[in-house]
Amino acid sequence: MILYFSATGNSKYVASSIAKVTNDRLVSIVDCMKNGDFSFSLSRNEAIGIISPTYSWGLPLIVCEFLEKVELTYAEKPYVYFIATYGTSPGQTGFFANQYMKEKEIPIDAQFSVKMPDTWTPTFNLSNKEKVSKINAGVEPQIDFIIKKIKIEEWGDFMKNKVPRFAAKVFYNLEYDNMRKTKRFKVEDTCVGCGLCEKKCPVNAIEIHNGKPVWIKDQCVMCLGCLHRCPKFAIQYGKNTKKHGQYTNPNVRI
Ligand SMILES: Cc1cc2nc3c(=O)[nH]c(=O)nc-3n(C[C@H](O)[C@H](O)[C@H](O)COP(=O)(O)O)c2cc1C
Ligand code: SF4
Ligand code: SF4
Repeated sequence: MILYFSATGNSKYVASSIAKVTNDRLVSIVDCMKNGDFSFSLSRNEAIGIISPTYSWGLPLIVCEFLEKVELTYAEKPYVYFIATYGTSPGQTGFFANQYMKEKEIPIDAQFSVKMPDTWTPTFNLSNKEKVSKINAGVEPQIDFIIKKIKIEEWGDFMKNKVPRFAAKVFYNLEYDNMRKTKRFKVEDTCVGCGLCEKKCPVNAIEIHNGKPVWIKDQCVMCLGCLHRCPKFAIQYGKNTKKHGQYTNPNVRI
């Protein structure tokens, strides 16, 4: 079973590429959260994969909440692996995910990372399509490496470009909160009121009022899915996102 969260498709692409080879069932954390599905029964020898983007060197809030709630039943301890997709550093996502899994007495056996385009466009520039394609061209070998390891249920820490644990704890606590400021969102006049941003938000943090999106701050996990998916690129966050472009993974529907 592969449990994944993905706002802009990178983690979904990794999850579906692995599932294609391993024949694992793909379970969307967004669907589970929306439908209240938290109980899963594993068949004999069924592995658990958890795949998530990195947010501020840690985990998206929706993933934390899901990992806290999920109940897994199994005959014998399954092989558990974690994969973080990331742009510059996966921080200590594996450590944070393992805290939840240890509570459930099924700690993570192996952790991996996949470097992909960085969707935090308030800082990173994804406007150059050639550069973005180059980054995505480097994804396949990383996925192949992971598939080889999980097929033989290898244990170990294969996560690259991590940061020290104390730094990740501090940065995550301070910076993720700072990022989650919905007042920095602006809607441009090009918005046509189609409602896609409201419909697709993974945590129902958008309502359309008078034909324009309005954000519910406490709900928003700052996945930037609304900004990247808007068909008119009418949602901006701060000063830089307009020039840094929109991005969704070209190989999956999200
Ligand atoms: C709020 C936010 C914070 C992020 N923080 C980090 C980070 O700390 N390190 C990093 O390498 N990438 C970071 N990223 C980039 C994403 O982790 C990366 O692009 C990921 O592949 C996106 O996955 P998705 O397309 O499945 O949503 C961040 C993205 C967002 C939206
Ligand atoms: S998706 Fe874009 S165009 Fe559609 S309502 Fe939202 S902001 Fe407006
Ligand atoms: S409002 Fe936008 S950034 Fe916030 S959770 Fe929803 S889609 Fe993600």
